[in-house]
Amino acid sequence: MSKITITIDGEKVEATAGEMLMDVCRRKGIFIPTLCDHKDLMPYGVCRICIVEWDRGDWSKMITSCNFPVKEGQVFRTNSEKVIRERKMIMEFTLARSSKTPEIIELAKILGVESSRFPTQDEGCILCGMCIRACSEVVEANAIGFAQRGSHRKISSPFYHEATDCIGCGSCSYICPTKYIEMKEDADTRTLPIWNVTFEMAKCKKCGQKIAPKKQIEFLKKRAKNLPEGWFDLCQNCR
Ligand code: FES
Repeated sequence: MSKITITIDGEKVEATAGEMLMDVCRRKGIFIPTLCDHKDLMPYGVCRICIVEWDRGDWSKMITSCNFPVKEGQVFRTNSEKVIRERKMIMEFTLARSSKTPEIIELAKILGVESSRFPTQDEGCILCGMCIRACSEVVEANAIGFAQRGSHRKISSPFYHEATDCIGCGSCSYICPTKYIEMKEDADTRTLPIWNVTFEMAKCKKCGQKIAPKKQIEFLKKRAKNLPEGWFDLCQNCR
């Protein structure tokens, strides 16, 4: 990939052609807020909080920096009045949707937003899709998705029934930026109420400690190659 030069906030910056603008900004130590970006996931560009201004000469355009591949000579502003104003607006929408989530409240404060003018929905879920993307891109279980459209859009198991392809790995819950996806565990089971699933946990054959849902272990066994015999029978400490 060829080296190029772009301009960010008036400064010439070297980048690789096709690199995402957000990554270039981060390398330069420029703060770009994000709510749907994760290093292990493909850029999605849905939360829009990472917007910056692309200067086209006599006009400019707002773009999401997380999924914007840079080209030679482009000029961007990350903290112009327009960027600050529009980011605040997006943050107000997000805050209205998830006004009790500490992580959202914290980011809102950083962006100078104390409250929202929009009707509070308190969904908790901000529709960033990270749970769905982790399930499909990383785990490759494809157990969950979006249902409905527009203002009714929500994350869902197929037809709101049991997510039969869910393996109980909990990636959706771990990655959720608002902690909306609850995962409960007792001595023998793991439950993800939102997907209507409960799994029996496998226990370490040596120390008896919980390892992971049996279904997850079966899933991994089919994919894992060249692991020693009995690898999945023991917990991390006993291996
Ligand atoms: S981080 Fe870019 S749109 Fe969410």
